[in-house]
Amino acid sequence: MASAQKIELSGVHQTALASAALRGAHTLCGDEPKIFRDELALRLAGMPDADAVAMMGRVSPASASTCILRSRFTEDRLAAARDRVSQYVILGAGLDSFALRQGDGLGDLAVYEVEDPPFQEWKRQRTAELGLTAPAQLHYVPCDFEVTSLEDALAASDFDPNQPCFISWLGVTQYLTPDAVKGTLAWAAARPAGSEIVLTFLEENEQALHLQAGVMSGLGRLTYFSPAEMTGLLENAGFSRIEHLSADRANEIYFRDRKDGLIAPQIQRLVSAIV
Ligand SMILES: C[S@@+](CC[C@H](N)C(=O)[O-])C[C@H]1O[C@@H](n2cnc3c(N)ncnc32)[C@H](O)[C@@H]1O
Repeated sequence: MASAQKIELSGVHQTALASAALRGAHTLCGDEPKIFRDELALRLAGMPDADAVAMMGRVSPASASTCILRSRFTEDRLAAARDRVSQYVILGAGLDSFALRQGDGLGDLAVYEVEDPPFQEWKRQRTAELGLTAPAQLHYVPCDFEVTSLEDALAASDFDPNQPCFISWLGVTQYLTPDAVKGTLAWAAARPAGSEIVLTFLEENEQALHLQAGVMSGLGRLTYFSPAEMTGLLENAGFSRIEHLSADRANEIYFRDRKDGLIAPQIQRLVSAIV
């Protein structure tokens, strides 16, 4: 068998490893009840447990919770949307392990992981090295959002554009140009009625600027939106029922009475919208 080709990961690709590390560290040592359980995260990232726990200790509780909350909130919304959708499109999937964790439990839900081609190939190699079996319902869709339209990328798969879908776009918009964000939102809003998107965006505030100057300093210029700007973009694209998950609301729903210090993030905001 030919040996796997060595793929160099860029700084943006490395953010997917860091996100998985924080989910894995929470799974290992976060308080019960876990906000999100991802037993595959550290295996996929190839990171020793101790390194992930140390990483968790180096970031603030609000930063650590970002990657945990967004996955939990999204999978909650997906579960609530399941009677309307049987296609799940994960944009900038990184090391998202939803399909691998669900396995046969996916039932009739087809999952489309859309990701920058080199990183997707890295993940596929990693999955094979670990001996994990990708369920038949999982489809890999290579796409650089700055270069290829989602329409074109998904046309190469068996994605059905005439059926409603659930879309997640977590931890990605800050790395894209505003035009690429608008282009993807236009595609998402043109899905059939009942389709839904959950996405994150960075709000420019003191914490975000601190992060940009610190751990995210190697990632170039980031794209920020205010909540009002994001609402405007979603409305202009054609979405309705736009709901922002405020930090107060997230604390009330997901972070009440925790002893591990996790609190809702103030920097990365979550919003959902329905077609
Ligand atoms: C912070 S990670 C988030 C990964 C995953 N959604 C999660 O929540 O763990 C950002 C992801 O966006 C992907 N990404 C960034 N720019 C991209 C682009 N232009 N096209 C496709 N994917 C991109 C990166 O490769 C990376 O996997």
